[in-house]
Amino acid sequence: MSIGRFIFLLALIFPFGMFAQKSEPISDESKVPAYELPEVLKTFSGRTVKNVKTWEKKRRPEILSVFENQVYGKVPGELKISDVEMLEQDSDAFGGLAIRKQLALVFRNNGKTLRAEVLMYLPKSDSKVPVFLSYNFLGNHTVCDDPHIRLTESWVPDQPAYGIINNQVTEQSRGVDSNRWPIERILKAGYGIVTMYYGDIDPDKNDFSDGIHPFFYTGNQQKPRLNEWGSLSAWGWGLSRILDYLETDPQVDAHRVAVMGFSRLGKAAVWAGAQDVRFAMVISNESGCGGAALSRRKFGETLAVINKNFPHWFCDNFKFYSDMESALPVDQHMLLALVAPRPLYVASAEDDWWSDPKGEFLAAKFASPVYNLMGLPGLPATDMPAVNEPVMGTIAYHIRSGKHDVTDFDWDQYLKFADMYLKR
Ligand code: GCU
Repeated sequence: MSIGRFIFLLALIFPFGMFAQKSEPISDESKVPAYELPEVLKTFSGRTVKNVKTWEKKRRPEILSVFENQVYGKVPGELKISDVEMLEQDSDAFGGLAIRKQLALVFRNNGKTLRAEVLMYLPKSDSKVPVFLSYNFLGNHTVCDDPHIRLTESWVPDQPAYGIINNQVTEQSRGVDSNRWPIERILKAGYGIVTMYYGDIDPDKNDFSDGIHPFFYTGNQQKPRLNEWGSLSAWGWGLSRILDYLETDPQVDAHRVAVMGFSRLGKAAVWAGAQDVRFAMVISNESGCGGAALSRRKFGETLAVINKNFPHWFCDNFKFYSDMESALPVDQHMLLALVAPRPLYVASAEDDWWSDPKGEFLAAKFASPVYNLMGLPGLPATDMPAVNEPVMGTIAYHIRSGKHDVTDFDWDQYLKFADMYLKR
């Protein structure tokens, strides 16, 4: 019997959380429970992985399968982009520094149509450019105050302070997130930036009648099955579809795409990067629980808390593990290991205890054996580095001062890391 099936049967026999020890979120390191991490280089049947071939053929697929069936949920089929609609183009954006493109990826199935809008700025160049691909939280028009960016017509969570009311944006929200998007610097460093509002793929609410999920329903299915995709997996799927488009864009080097994400969008970016090996680099900016942080530490946000507050993010099977972390055959270091041999950056912030900086560091550290197996340095640190002192091997890590955010300091490191691996 497969592990997934065994756990599924277990979940049927014992109701969710029957053995659960309910507890308050831990913010004190001395209260972290004793735990044992599954070894990344030992198969579920107990065999030690001694070479890259066994990793590729056996261990990687079995880890991926647990994340698919027990954590994020499987994408139930294939759906290609039906059309690309070029909405707007300007070769003189950012005072002549860049090309701006806005386009819609159109998906059709089951009599439905979904349009997801991409905004890209590319530095002017004679050759194809490397890019950072990252979702935004509130609409493409919030990443920069460029008045030519189309206002999203999608459902957006209300933010009265930004004039986002009744789930519709207004001019008032233009550029409100621009601090997290130093576009001019990125362009000047020779990189393009590609973004999409994540809600274009699936609005972030516990509702499976909207977004991309219904495009895959069969018969009178109303929601994904127990092991099928939640919203994070849908967002991850969307990142891969953007990459499909980038492969056709004559100005972009699709072999040099860094997928990056902050917070919940960091979880989606890491999941996308773990599955889709076409992404050349993966950057997790404070992705926390269900992202780069180890679940077994139960520090900050826990599985019980995330499953309760965001029941639509993961697959339904994942709810079984609320307060049952040790029953999970994987932990997040194994997700990070799926990125190997590609460069991976894990970033934390000192005041962001909710995302468990130490758990993010340890996940990066315990993903390293897979890189080492491949003859690569992995994370060149055994202890957590000091605040604001990044370490960079094929895995990089930093904890910077400050709160949960994306700052210039973070981008300084990502640009440096990209220069190490994505520059020609
Ligand atoms: C909440 C949630 C986190 C998530 C964050 C965000 O804090 O608990 O898991 O990362 O929102 O996406 O901003």
